Amino acid sequence: MNAFRSIEFLDEGIVRMLDQRKLPHETVYNDYENYTEVAQAITDMVIRGAPAIGAAAAYGMALTAHRSKATDAESLRAELATASDVLAASRPTAVNLFWALDRMNKGIANSSLDSVSALQKATLTEAHAIAEEDVAINKAIGMNALSLIPDKATIIHHCNTGSLATVDYGTALGVIRTAHEQGKEILALLDETRPRLQGGRLSAYELKEQGVPFKVIVDGASGHFMRTLGVDLCVVGTDRVAANGDVANKIGTYNLAVVAHENGVPFYVAAPTTTIDMATKHGDDIEIEERPATEVTTVGNWQITPDGVDVGNPAFDVTPAKYITAIITEKGLVYPPFEENLAKLMGKE
Ligand code: MRU
Repeated sequence: MNAFRSIEFLDEGIVRMLDQRKLPHETVYNDYENYTEVAQAITDMVIRGAPAIGAAAAYGMALTAHRSKATDAESLRAELATASDVLAASRPTAVNLFWALDRMNKGIANSSLDSVSALQKATLTEAHAIAEEDVAINKAIGMNALSLIPDKATIIHHCNTGSLATVDYGTALGVIRTAHEQGKEILALLDETRPRLQGGRLSAYELKEQGVPFKVIVDGASGHFMRTLGVDLCVVGTDRVAANGDVANKIGTYNLAVVAHENGVPFYVAAPTTTIDMATKHGDDIEIEERPATEVTTVGNWQITPDGVDVGNPAFDVTPAKYITAIITEKGLVYPPFEENLAKLMGKE
């Protein structure tokens, strides 16, 4: 696997993931042999980031078919239905998980797949397609964003949305990477992104390897840098875009958007169309995952709070569409009014 690829399927029937919990200090690959393990890896954030979670679910389905002892297509379909339910319960917010499972399940329902081997082949082909399309989509997002980025640009980024959060290359971090590769003079300000520090650990790791100039900043510093340094734009990823243009993303994105608005800094959301959920009308309809209190009370093995304190740990927040300047997709830029323009983009109008 190349240094940052998050996931791959090995011919002998193994899903291999780069364990993101251990980065940047250790590069460890974990091998998974069944869908229960894959679902647990998603829950535990061995793999994370909306597109990567979608690919993991797809490969979890292909793995189930590959390892199945079923002797006929209908028994295998029943096993795959159970796998799909278990994978769907692994994390609630990123729509890519449900999108990928839906795409796999539609393929599996094709009645011309009337043998175990036909289903095995079809599920693996579809999972590979989901993974490879993701890489191509990310590269297109990077190119589509170029016109938004001045030749010298200071850019604030939240969480990790790079190769690690996707199958490879990345969405919002891919925008920064493409701009750098295309010769623009970029300074990225990376929010460290409490509590799991995806910015400080993962985005910094990726940009360091890629030679993109950056500074890691604490989440609360973004307003200060906007006022004092002059920030040209913010670019973030998303776990789900609602039909009205509201976006769910890593906790703290909303704060960043509001402070960007206050300072007149454009706020862009990089979103593959696989993250746009036209069935969810409004951001408030998106389920926000609540994660364990220990993510907040401890940093590594160090407990930073008194014993037994009450903790709120929503993993995501919703940024209302009114704070978003444009959504960058692989099909082009989407501007307000989002309800109308997302519907056009997604072919619903
Ligand atoms: O909890 P995580 O690390 O899975 O959250 C990831 C994010 O919020 C990303 O910004 C989002 O999934 C987009 S990744 C291209």
